[in-house]
Amino acid sequence: MEQREQWGSRIGLILAMAGNAIGLGNFLRFPVQAAQNGGGAFMIPYFVSFIVLGIPLMWVEWGIGRYGGVRGHGTAPGIFDALWKNRLAKYVGILGIFLPLVVLIYYTYICSWTLAFSLSSLLDLYPSPETALASASPKEYLLPYQSYLTAYIGADSEGIFLTPHPMAYVFFAITLGIGLTVLAKGISGGIEKLSKFAIPALFIMAFILFFRVITLTSPTDPSFTVSRGFSFLWEPDLSGLLDGKVWLAAAGQIFFTLSLGMGAILTYASYVKKDEDIALDGLSTASLNEFAEVVFGSTIAIVSAVIFFGPGGAREVAEAGAFDLGFISMPAVFGHMPFGRFFGFLWFLLLFFAGLTSIVALSQPVIAFFEDEFGWTRKRSVFWLGIFFVASVTIPMFLKGSLGEMDFWVATFALVILALFEMIIFLWIFGGERAWEEITRGAHIKVPRVFFYIMKYVTPLFLIVILCAWGYQELPKVIGKKGVGVWVARLFLAGLLFAHVAAVRAAWKRRKSA
Ligand code: TRP
Repeated sequence: MEQREQWGSRIGLILAMAGNAIGLGNFLRFPVQAAQNGGGAFMIPYFVSFIVLGIPLMWVEWGIGRYGGVRGHGTAPGIFDALWKNRLAKYVGILGIFLPLVVLIYYTYICSWTLAFSLSSLLDLYPSPETALASASPKEYLLPYQSYLTAYIGADSEGIFLTPHPMAYVFFAITLGIGLTVLAKGISGGIEKLSKFAIPALFIMAFILFFRVITLTSPTDPSFTVSRGFSFLWEPDLSGLLDGKVWLAAAGQIFFTLSLGMGAILTYASYVKKDEDIALDGLSTASLNEFAEVVFGSTIAIVSAVIFFGPGGAREVAEAGAFDLGFISMPAVFGHMPFGRFFGFLWFLLLFFAGLTSIVALSQPVIAFFEDEFGWTRKRSVFWLGIFFVASVTIPMFLKGSLGEMDFWVATFALVILALFEMIIFLWIFGGERAWEEITRGAHIKVPRVFFYIMKYVTPLFLIVILCAWGYQELPKVIGKKGVGVWVARLFLAGLLFAHVAAVRAAWKRRKSA
């Protein structure tokens, strides 16, 4: 067998892993989730989820990834098969390629908007508001910015991308092209190089924007101060503790932001050397992501919205839709300050860098699968990913209801299932002590033993509770949905899943005959 690729340096590995986790989720999804779920009330469930879900799962994915990589497997089918001597193991592992692949389709499209909008800001293409800020409601004031976004993505009143602006296709193609080019250059020559540049740049841009926001004064009402912006999130509020919906949202955000339950972290970890530390590096990655999320991600979008529109207005904007804070409120804030074009450019470029480093992470599992299990070259694997992309993106993306449907099954539901399998296979079937040895071998820190019990008992239990709550709360609603777009999305997902089963079967046949 040929030598598998490896990360070139420790710092490169950490930055690539940080790039994997830090994404649009930190800067767009987190503020919206936090604001919609009561601000301060969201934060305690969020931090609890980070400790009992985020950190243990991060270590488990690093652990099984490194274990698999040493044995020549970088994706869940091969790794599960090595950990669990059961012919079903490889089929369960399919999720670890399928989930990132589906998210990749729409994630890339959304990321391409940020590239376009960074240029819109720089070139000052936004229309100016017709009403004065002081006398208008947030909704009225934001109207032109709202129309600008809807015209670009071609959304109708229900927010569906029916007829995008021609430029939307152009920027999509550019974003996809950049992603594939990086991937074609490989792990250390492509992904690691990109991350070494993009992640430090991202932190610098985030810091500049953070500093700009915390020195703003309100143009509308002197009582909308920076400290009111901060207390929106940081004033502890215990009311969320008994609300199941808040817990689900908090756990879901932890999954999404840390890229867990998808198979993407374990694929990156499969390029770590056999005895190299994973305990400290896994923790560092998670911490870098949390820092970017709760310090920069929350402050930039939320504090600025509170300063401009007040706490009530900020919540109203967050509740209006997933993209309103980042794509509508932020440009309006920048439009009202000196050098706003420059700051707006930085904001969207920051989003683009965050998204791009996640796009390559979402793509790597399928590429690793082609390379490891079919013996394809990297270029060939990337080429077929590109073909898949062009073929699939146009089908389910632009129909009403498709995106929400895919997002639910994949990014909300199935990732909990994959995470549960990871925990059970690693800590119960492979064995608790062996798993612990895998995670702590070569560790630069002493991992507190209490995490052994958290991983073995608390995390799986927590996952089962989440799954039941979801099943009870959301499943009936989703299953009852109607519409062509919904069914196209379901058919698309089923077909793709079937293709995965066929691919895994073919790979194992090939292996047997080899
Ligand atoms: N963590 C990414 C973000 O915050 C999104 C994401 C979810 C992701 N799952 C992933 C990225 C898997 C890469 C791989 O935006």
